[in-house]
Amino acid sequence: MYICVCHAVTDRQIREAVDQGATSLPELQCQLPVASCCGRCETSAREVIDEHLVVRARKSAA
Ligand code: FES
Repeated sequence: MYICVCHAVTDRQIREAVDQGATSLPELQCQLPVASCCGRCETSAREVIDEHLVVRARKSAA
């Protein structure tokens, strides 16, 4: 699913960036051009980051 329509960035790409170390929107933006045009995707991008960080934390705790 596209999170950032302006730059055609998907939730999958955001999760992959989190897997590669991004833990915040600014860190994500070092890898992907999310929220750098109209900004409408900013909240959704933060939600994908936060959700994936929780999933990763649960997996590592198991
Ligand atoms: S939808 Fe992401 S910057 Fe516009």
